Amino acid sequence: MSKGNKMFPIWLITIAVVVASTQAQPEVNFQCKTENATCRSITEYTNPNTTTLKEIATLFGIKHYLDFLGANNLPTNTQNSYKVSPNTVIKVPFPCKCNNGTGKSNHVPKYKIKPGDGLDAIARTRFAGLVKYQQIQTANKIVDANNITAGDTIWIPLPCSCDKVDGNSVMHYAHIVESGSSIDSIAQEYGTTQLSLLTINGIKDPKTLEAGQLLDVPLPVCNSSVKSDSIDFPLLVPNGTYFYTANQCVKCKCDSINNFMLQCEPSNQKPINNWSVCPSARCSASVLIGNTTSTDSCNRTVCDYSGYTSSNISTVLVTQNACAVTPSSGGGDSDSGASRSILNGWVWNKLLVLIHSLLFFVYLL
Ligand SMILES: *[C@@H]1O[C@H](CO)[C@@H](O)[C@H](O)[C@H]1NC(C)=O
Ligand SMILES: *[C@@H]1O[C@H](CO)[C@@H](O)[C@H](O)[C@H]1NC(C)=O
Ligand SMILES: *[C@@H]1O[C@H](CO)[C@@H](O)[C@H](O)[C@H]1NC(C)=O
Ligand SMILES: *[C@@H]1O[C@H](CO)[C@@H](O)[C@H](O)[C@H]1NC(C)=O
Ligand SMILES: *[C@@H]1O[C@H](CO)[C@@H](O)[C@H](O)[C@H]1NC(C)=O
Ligand SMILES: *[C@@H]1O[C@H](CO)[C@@H](O)[C@H](O)[C@H]1NC(C)=O
Ligand SMILES: *[C@@H]1O[C@H](CO)[C@@H](O)[C@H](O)[C@H]1NC(C)=O
Ligand SMILES: *[C@@H]1O[C@H](CO)[C@@H](O)[C@H](O)[C@H]1NC(C)=O
Ligand SMILES: *[C@@H]1O[C@H](CO)[C@@H](O)[C@H](O)[C@H]1NC(C)=O
Ligand SMILES: *[C@@H]1O[C@H](CO)[C@@H](O)[C@H](O)[C@H]1NC(C)=O
Repeated sequence: MSKGNKMFPIWLITIAVVVASTQAQPEVNFQCKTENATCRSITEYTNPNTTTLKEIATLFGIKHYLDFLGANNLPTNTQNSYKVSPNTVIKVPFPCKCNNGTGKSNHVPKYKIKPGDGLDAIARTRFAGLVKYQQIQTANKIVDANNITAGDTIWIPLPCSCDKVDGNSVMHYAHIVESGSSIDSIAQEYGTTQLSLLTINGIKDPKTLEAGQLLDVPLPVCNSSVKSDSIDFPLLVPNGTYFYTANQCVKCKCDSINNFMLQCEPSNQKPINNWSVCPSARCSASVLIGNTTSTDSCNRTVCDYSGYTSSNISTVLVTQNACAVTPSSGGGDSDSGASRSILNGWVWNKLLVLIHSLLFFVYLL
C-alpha cells in the first residue's frame, strides 16, 4: 500500500523534469560569410495535416512550379493538386541572400496576417518551426509582437546560406531533427560528413542534438561548366534533384552515379521571360547540349551547358571521365564512434534521473 503512495511523487518529479527540458530551442541563424551573396536554397517543410503541392507552393510563394517539382524530384507533369500525406517531408526551394553574417530568404515568403493570428503561431504552426517569432519580428521591425494587424503583409526570414564548405559548392538545406536520429545518421542520409555538420552548426557535442532542432545540412551538388558571368551562377543542383535554368530552356539534373557531373539538355519547355522561343543551345549545327561527340575509352566529350545571358545560351565542349565512378559514400565519413551515441543524450539523461529516483526510493525502504 505505502509503496504505491511513495511511488507517485517520484513519477511526478520525473515527468516534470522531462517537460522542463523540452522547452523551445533558441533562434537559429545559419552562418553566411560572403556579404550580399545570393543563391538558391532549400528548406524542409512538413505539415501535420493532409495538404497539396498547390497549398505549399502558395504558402511559400513559389514562383516557378517546376523548381518545386525539381527540388522534390517529382515528374515534370505532376499536377499541383497532388496530395501530400500528413508529415511528409517536402523540399521547398527559395532564393537566399547573405547579410550581416547570416543567410535569410530574400524577403520571401510573404504572409498576409489573418484575424486571430499570433506571431508565434505563424512561426510554429504555419511555417512548421522553421523560424522563431522573434526572427519574424526583427525582420519586419514589428514593435510589439503581441500587437500585429490582420491584413498586414509580413515576410518570413527562412534560414539559409550561400557559403562553400571546405572549398566545395553545396546547397544548404534547413532540416528539422527528428527524434531518434543522430549526427551520424543525418550525415549518411544527406551525403555529407559528421564533421561538416558539427562545424557549420557550431555543435561541440553531438550528444546535445535534440529533436526539433534546426540544422544546416550541406547537400553535395553536381559540378557544372557554368561560368561566373552567367545569370544562374552558381548553379547549385543537389544530388537526386533536377532544375530548369536559362529561363526554363535548359533542364539539368544531378545524380551521384554520374560522377557528380551535372547533366543538362534542352528542356522543350516554353521560356519564362521575354524570349519568344528558346535560343539555340548547341555546340554545332548537329550537336545539342547533352550530346556526346566522341568517346575514347574513359574519356567522353560532351556538349555542356555553360550559362546564359539576357540574349543567349552558351555551351562548351568538355571532356568527362565516363568510367571510374568513385565509390561516393558522400565524402566517406570515417570519423567513427563519437556520435554513435545517439541523439537525445536527452533520453538517456531522463532515464538516469528516473533510475536515480528509483534507487533513492529503494534506499528509503
Ligand atoms: C551589400 O549591399 C548593400 C546594399 O545594396 C551595400 O550598401 C553594401 O555596400 C554591400 N556590401 C558589400 C560588401 O558588397
Ligand atoms: C492542421 O489541422 C488542425 C485542425 O484542423 C489545425 O488546427 C491546424 O492549424 C492545421 N495545421 C496546419 C499547419 O495547417
Ligand atoms: C549585425 O550583427 C550583429 C551581431 O552579429 C548585430 O549586433 C548587429 O546589430 C547587426 N547589424 C545589423 C544592421 O543588423
Ligand atoms: C497596436 O498597434 C496600433 C498601431 O499599429 C496602435 O494604434 C494600438 O494602440 C496598439 N494596441 C496596443 C494594445 O498596444
Ligand atoms: C564534383 O563535386 C564533388 C562534390 O560536390 C567533389 O567531391 C568532386 O571532387 C567534384 N568532381 C570533379 C571532377 O570536380
Ligand atoms: C529581353 O529583356 C532584356 C532585358 O530584361 C533585354 O536585354 C533583351 O534584349 C530582351 N530580349 C528580347 C528578345 O526582347
Ligand atoms: C542530342 O540531344 C538531343 C536532345 O537531348 C537528343 O534528342 C538527341 O537524341 C541527341 N543526339 C545524339 C546523337 O545523341
Ligand atoms: C583522357 O584524358 C586525359 C586528359 O584529360 C588524358 O591524360 C588521357 O590520356 C586520356 N585518356 C585516353 C584513353 O584518351
Ligand atoms: C551571348 O551574348 C553575349 C552578350 O549578351 C555575347 O557577349 C556573347 O558573345 C553571346 N554568345 C553567343 C554564343 O552568341
Ligand atoms: C545521391 O542520391 C541518390 C538518390 O537519388 C542516392 O541513392 C545516393 O546515395 C546519393 N549519393 C550521395 C553521395 O549522397
